[in-house]
Amino acid sequence: MAKLIFESTGEERELEEGAPIASLCEEAGVPFACTEGICGTCVIEVREGMENLSDFSQEELDFLGEPGCERLACQCKIRQGSVKIRF
Ligand code: FES
Repeated sequence: MAKLIFESTGEERELEEGAPIASLCEEAGVPFACTEGICGTCVIEVREGMENLSDFSQEELDFLGEPGCERLACQCKIRQGSVKIRF
């Protein structure tokens, strides 16, 4: 199992390795709109464990520009280990 940690509350949620993070993020209060990587509503900041997320999608690169600490939650899957995010 992999783990998603929400920095603001300290809440930790387990999910399958390879699973999208969108539904847990939505439950935690991350706003979503298009769910297709276009609108940018679901932007999150990755505080730890960026290497445990899937590679940047083309949509993320188009919206966010150069890869940094921000991701679009609707585009990310968790590979393994733990990832801490802030939104
Ligand atoms: S919900 Fe639109 S970019 Fe993620």
